[in-house]
Order: sequence, then C-alpha cells, then structure tokens
Amino acid sequence: MPLVNTTEMFKKAYEGGYAIGAFNVNNMEIIQGITEAAKSLNAPLILQVSAGARKYANHTYLVKLVEAALAVTDLPIALHLDHGDTFELCKDCIDGGFTSVMIDGSHHSYEGNVELTKKVVEYAHARGVTVEAELGRLAGIEDDVSVSAEDASYTNPDQVVDFVTRTGCDSLAIAIGTSHGAFKFKPGTKPQLRFDILEEIERRLPGFPIVLHGASSVIPEFVDDINKFGGKMDHAIGIPEDMLRQAARSAVCKINIDSDLRLAMTASIRKYFAENPSHFDPRQYLSPARTAIKDMVARKITNVLGCDGKA
Ligand code: G3H
Ligand code: 13P
Ligand code: ZN
Repeated sequence: MPLVNTTEMFKKAYEGGYAIGAFNVNNMEIIQGITEAAKSLNAPLILQVSAGARKYANHTYLVKLVEAALAVTDLPIALHLDHGDTFELCKDCIDGGFTSVMIDGSHHSYEGNVELTKKVVEYAHARGVTVEAELGRLAGIEDDVSVSAEDASYTNPDQVVDFVTRTGCDSLAIAIGTSHGAFKFKPGTKPQLRFDILEEIERRLPGFPIVLHGASSVIPEFVDDINKFGGKMDHAIGIPEDMLRQAARSAVCKINIDSDLRLAMTASIRKYFAENPSHFDPRQYLSPARTAIKDMVARKITNVLGCDGKA
C-alpha cells in the first residue's frame, strides 16, 4: 500500500470515536518500534517528522526508512511534517514525498496565520497532500524554541469557522491546555484540559478533525528508571491517559506523542548500560530500546487512541 494522506483515516476516526497516533520519528529504531506496534495491533498510523528530525537524519533517509516500514507492514501510513513554520519547508516536504504537512502559523497574527496557511493549502491540495493548521498557542518546547506559559493561549472558538473556511485546511490543532515536552504541569498540581473549549469547537465545526499536540503522559516509572540508572530528571505531571482517551472519543482525530517515546527509549538505554557496563555494540542496547518504543506505542494505541483493529 502506498503512503496515504489523512483524509480517509480522519473520516473513519471521527465516525468511529477514536484517534490516530502521530508519533515523531528520528531514526530507524524509532520507526521500526512504532510500526511493529501498529502492525501487531492492526492500527493506522501517522509518522511525523519535525524540522529538527530532518536536520538530524536527512529528509531522504527518513522518507526511505518510512517507505521500508510501509513495505514491511502494509498499513495505512501518512508521512507528515510536524510544525512546519514556513511555506518553503512545507513545499520541500510536499515535493519530497510527504502526504501531509502541518503549517504552524500560530506565532503569527491571526491574519498572518490565515494568509500563510491558505498559501500552503493551495500548494498542497493541488498535489493531493492534506494540511493541518494551528490556532491558539501551546506552551512548552518545540525545536529548542520555548513558549512560556504566559505566552501560551487557548484557541478562541469564535475564530475557528472563519479560519477553517478562509484557509481550507483539513484539520486544526487547538490549544486546550496540553503543552510540549516532558515538563507540563508541576508535581502536585492537577492537570486540567479545557474540554469546554473542545466541545464548543466541535459544535461549531461538526465533522471536522481536531488535533491535539503536546499529548505525552510523562509516565512516572520511565522518569524513575532514568534517574535510577544514572540520569537526573525532574518529575513532572503529563496529560493523564484517561483525559486523552476522552478526547479521542470526540472530534479529536490525531494525537501527537513524542516525549513519551523519548523517555521510554532513554530509560531503556540507561538501564541496559547500568546492567551491562562493558558492552559497546549498538545493536545490543538499541534492540531493547526499539522494544521499549514498541511497547509504549502499543500502550498508546490501546489505552489512549482506541485505533487498534482500525487499519
Ligand atoms: O513538538 C515537537 C516535537 O516533539 C518534535 O521535537 O522539534 O525536537 O524534533 P523536535
Ligand atoms: P509531547 O512533547 O507531549 O510528546 O508532544 C509532541 C508533539 O506535539 C509533537 O508535535
Ligand atoms: Zn506539537
């Protein structure tokens, strides 16, 4: 099966009350771990590549690795640009084989965001590529750019119909309290998502796919393992899995997860070296790391997304 765009998978997810996992990929082991989990659970998948991932691994390597995963798994997989911030970056990815792009104009003025998104949509749609846009601004870290909690802002439901109509985007990332990175809420605080805003957006845009970024749960046992085996990480509260499951049953059709994979992989490698200090063959420590990614993705598919059996 060739790479697909997100149209069909979002339509089915919306109607079926589940969400597709969008997992960030940076190397072969991450791609293998994610796709092996999806294959074992027969789940549709979005593999997403950030500007940082392209810089690290090289566009062509990532596309070829994803093509290999596709050949091996035969699942519906979309290859998506995560947080594209310019028309040129989106164009590069569209011309270079991606089937979906995000244009993140959330740092621009409202009118600037509309104008940039519209330009990307025109280019993408002419080539069969779907476009995710963002309205509202999440806190946290993206590509080493830190957005403070004060600069973050919830999506304004009054703007969504105008934005979607004028831009023609295919899905909309919204800000309802999730944030990027492994430090979302301070320990001891109670995480809250603005489900009232989500419901209002759903009411105003019936049938339209909504996206949640910053949706890692920062599961304590992985931070514990990192610290137990020589790391030094502060604990934080992530987005509880039951809240994400609730979101996945609504208009939310795509849930972005990266930090939880990073934590699982790092915990596994630290544990391996603590237990096998004399080993130096990368295959030895990357095999369990790949399995850790696979287990984490399988957990997300069943506990959070509900997309098992939907491929
Ligand atoms: O939202 C950002 C993703 O976690 C990707 O992170 O830009 O460090 O690759 P990155
Ligand atoms: P997390 O940092 O919560 O995993 O979010 C990832 C993300 O939104 C990628 O776009
Ligand atoms: Zn994001």
